Amino acid sequence: MTSNEYKIIQNFLSQSCGIVLNESKQYLVKNRLTGLLQKFDLESFSGLAAAINTNSPMTMKIKAAVVDAMTTNETFWFRDDMQFLELKKTIFPEIFEKKTGTIKIWSAACSSGQEPYTISMCYEDAAKVAGKSQNVQIIGTDISETILKEAKEAVYSELALSRGLEVQTKNRFFQKTHVGYKLIPDITRRVRFQQFNLLKPFSVLGRFDIIFCRNVLIYFSDEVKKDILTRMAKSLEPGGYIFLSSTESMPAGIKEFEPIRSGRVRYFKKVS
Ligand SMILES: C[S@@+](CC[C@H](N)C(=O)[O-])C[C@H]1O[C@@H](n2cnc3c(N)ncnc32)[C@H](O)[C@@H]1O
Repeated sequence: MTSNEYKIIQNFLSQSCGIVLNESKQYLVKNRLTGLLQKFDLESFSGLAAAINTNSPMTMKIKAAVVDAMTTNETFWFRDDMQFLELKKTIFPEIFEKKTGTIKIWSAACSSGQEPYTISMCYEDAAKVAGKSQNVQIIGTDISETILKEAKEAVYSELALSRGLEVQTKNRFFQKTHVGYKLIPDITRRVRFQQFNLLKPFSVLGRFDIIFCRNVLIYFSDEVKKDILTRMAKSLEPGGYIFLSSTESMPAGIKEFEPIRSGRVRYFKKVS
């Protein structure tokens, strides 16, 4: 891969999905994209770079495959588990008190579905404790159609289930099938998925009471990060909440949120 070809790939990823790659990532990019040369019958990276710079139905497929190959889909059940405890014990009971209509939650960059399904499991418990049955809509979005296909199927391997899920929860919410463990409809029915690029306007998604935007902003420039968070504030209902991962912080200069601390958990409330 020449430095010019690398530059074309760098520019494409930054403009199409916000992912910023510095010079040290050339080796990683080469590794992740080599398989696409054979898949799309391209002789070299110069063919791939040319496809990226062209618009046709075939090159659209190639570009989507480049994005798929370069995004990191790492996720697991109850990731940052204290956040989910807070959701269950504090946030859902608070919303049950003050809202009668549908509770709307967005898992932005949901990967293979563990995050929105974990939210649905938390709702199940919170509703049981409160003796409530409120309408809840959870939307999981991701840029990758491939990973969303897995999320929609809601079938997971033993290995995927071993990451973050307690045995009791596994027994309660999954049914063993010949292809893996299938989540039960009680959990899947309130979750829907949609392909969505976080660089695009959010208005098509509606407004939310809670947004989870975890482990995705780390791939973006500071400018893109701030833009996304400022726009997410507009998509939140007054007093709505946003969760970043426990290792991410709210960039300086964002005035739309105030931090909430509850024990070791930190999240953000929209300043109304
Ligand atoms: C590391 S996963 C995070 C999954 C989950 N939020 C969690 O914390 O476990 C990051 C996800 O962000 C998605 N992604 C990357 N760029 C994106 C963009 N511009 N718009 C939407 N999703 C994007 C990737 O496809 C990937 O599935």
